[in-house]
Amino acid sequence: MTAPVRECVDGAPIDILLRPEDLRAALLTDAREGLGSTPKTLPPKYFYDAEGSRLFEQITRQPKYYPTRTEHAILSEYAEEIAQAAGAEVLLELGSGSSEKTRLLLDAMGERLDGYVPVDVSPDALREAILRLRVDYPDLHVHGAVADFDHHLGDLPAPGKRMVALLGSTLGNYRPHERARFLGAIASAMHPGESLLLGLDLVKDPSRLVAAYDDAAGVTAAFNRNVLRVLNRELGADFAPDAFEHVARWDSGGEWMEMRLRATRPMKVRLPAIELDVDFADGEELRTETSAKFRREPITEELSQHGLSVVKWWSDPAGDYAMLLAVK
Ligand code: SAH
Ligand code: AVI
Repeated sequence: MTAPVRECVDGAPIDILLRPEDLRAALLTDAREGLGSTPKTLPPKYFYDAEGSRLFEQITRQPKYYPTRTEHAILSEYAEEIAQAAGAEVLLELGSGSSEKTRLLLDAMGERLDGYVPVDVSPDALREAILRLRVDYPDLHVHGAVADFDHHLGDLPAPGKRMVALLGSTLGNYRPHERARFLGAIASAMHPGESLLLGLDLVKDPSRLVAAYDDAAGVTAAFNRNVLRVLNRELGADFAPDAFEHVARWDSGGEWMEMRLRATRPMKVRLPAIELDVDFADGEELRTETSAKFRREPITEELSQHGLSVVKWWSDPAGDYAMLLAVK
């Protein structure tokens, strides 16, 4: 591979493995494919422009969206144990977002910690997170990457023995067959002895799940509709976001939440950049996100199929959320 384009934020290097034009090119392909299929779908990575990342952070503060604060509570209690069990020098975080909960891990890794590699598809979120980290961790080696973890796992900085973290139940945003591919790619990119820390939302009463994905203040609805604004801006599309209703639905067969956008009237949407006109029938839904919920045994078995052994499992007292450490 040729040396990546690199920029610096307050002295910290950021490898640009995904330029804005690359993300736009991927969106062209994914929109053509997803809007042409039945049901219509879009991959969740396009939620996270600057506004989408801001809305996600607002979701994490909604009273009914328990995953972030529960993961935070588990890390507050067990970060030392996690750091001990992983024995890593470097924390590589996929989908690092604001890197807020990560601080608990950085603190717990203590003397051993030699570097932090935050990786995110959203350059704005990544730059802001690094700027804030530079203030509180001036001596920490931070080397970020703007990258798509569906494509760039093999090209990420690897400055020492790593713990790879995927927090916030981001693994849940894959459908099962894509998850197998993603876990296989993570396992291949890991060296023997390195570990994977996963934060996972667990199966629970669907009414609580629906409340978490359809908050009373309408922030999740705004986050969901924002993907249409991304399509309008990037592809010159003419979606009318307000003509779509936010839908949050539990799929009991797959054990996942789905977010959808439902057309409230028949519409023809033009996407000039891909020379596509898309018809929506009244009530037709566009699936924008899957958010799988997990159980201990099946995910343990799934990881073992990729040569990853679960060595530890931590949960909150109510059993709402879990973190596991798997070693290659
Ligand atoms: N880890 C944080 C953020 C979770 S939100 C937390 O636990 O709160 C999911 C994050 O993953 C967002 O910051 C989003 O920009 C990023 N993301 C989504 N898809 C991605 C992809 N394909 N490659 C890299 N980052 C991605
Ligand atoms: C980042 N991801 C795991 C979140 C989730 O819960 O699936 C995104 C989100 N979607 C709606 N609310 C939050």
